[in-house]
Amino acid sequence: MTAARKIIVTTDPGQDQAVALFVLLALPKDFDILGVVATAGNIGLDKTQRNARQLLELAGRSDVRVYLGSPRPMRRPLVTAEHVHGPNGLDGVDLPEPSMPLQAQSGIDFIVETLLREPPGSVTLVCLSPLTNLGLALEKEPDIASRMAGVVMMAGAYFEVGNITPAAEFNVYVDPEAADLVLRSGAAITMLPLDVTHQMLSTPERLDRFRALGNRCGLATADMLSFSEAFDLKKYGWEGAPLHGPCVPAYMLKPELFVSRRINVTVETDSALTLGMTVADWWRVTDRPRNVAYVRNGDPAGYYDLLVETIARLP
Ligand code: BDR
Repeated sequence: MTAARKIIVTTDPGQDQAVALFVLLALPKDFDILGVVATAGNIGLDKTQRNARQLLELAGRSDVRVYLGSPRPMRRPLVTAEHVHGPNGLDGVDLPEPSMPLQAQSGIDFIVETLLREPPGSVTLVCLSPLTNLGLALEKEPDIASRMAGVVMMAGAYFEVGNITPAAEFNVYVDPEAADLVLRSGAAITMLPLDVTHQMLSTPERLDRFRALGNRCGLATADMLSFSEAFDLKKYGWEGAPLHGPCVPAYMLKPELFVSRRINVTVETDSALTLGMTVADWWRVTDRPRNVAYVRNGDPAGYYDLLVETIARLP
């Protein structure tokens, strides 16, 4: 049996990320979570740190450490998404105030110190959120890039274009400078963009499967996604809403469910019109370095089977 992969998670939950966290938390033999860094994004940091701790407690994993990241992007004011996720960022469930503590160390120092301490190539960054905290860690200590096992991130879009502007995906738009630093860092990067997450629709039948599990995390999954999908159902007119965040752990667990290609991806950081656009050289028409494994397609049936089976293991 192979050892659990050591991971650091950055997250701004967010209902879809709650489901991603559940998957990571449900499988301690696969994921050794060294820490969760709460990020400002879908909602302010005051709420994402609370939401993260509530979700850990719901999943019975208050042993996992939660750190506070930066309250704002590297160079810009914060843009949030209450219009999707609700005023708490995690509407659809009513969870008790968390009692587990926040760690005193900053999330940025935690990322730097962990990567400098652990053997090179042993820790993977699992980024569900804007890349602010990883960007700040790289700015502080560029050497950490060569010590990471890799970065697996829900970020960007190319064929599906933007969801927060016509050109940009939310996580990259919130902190394009951080995304740019990560993409240029030399770390081994896997990107799960809207091109794949838009294939993973939470149809009523799929939400029913979570509800039918009957455990509290299955019920919370169904309730949370029923809330957050309303905005997307109206926007896209599809049979279900895209379920973004869990694509990251699903890819790490079962890469055979996905199709990717190594290409160059570069972020626009200047243009007012296309700020945060991830320009993906899909046809390899430039000689820019192939810095990303870009995941373009996935198997939605296999994805939902995996999520349901995994969340069934939680309380
Ligand atoms: C991303 O934006 C956020 O609103 C979601 O939580 C996800 O991380 C999708 O673009």
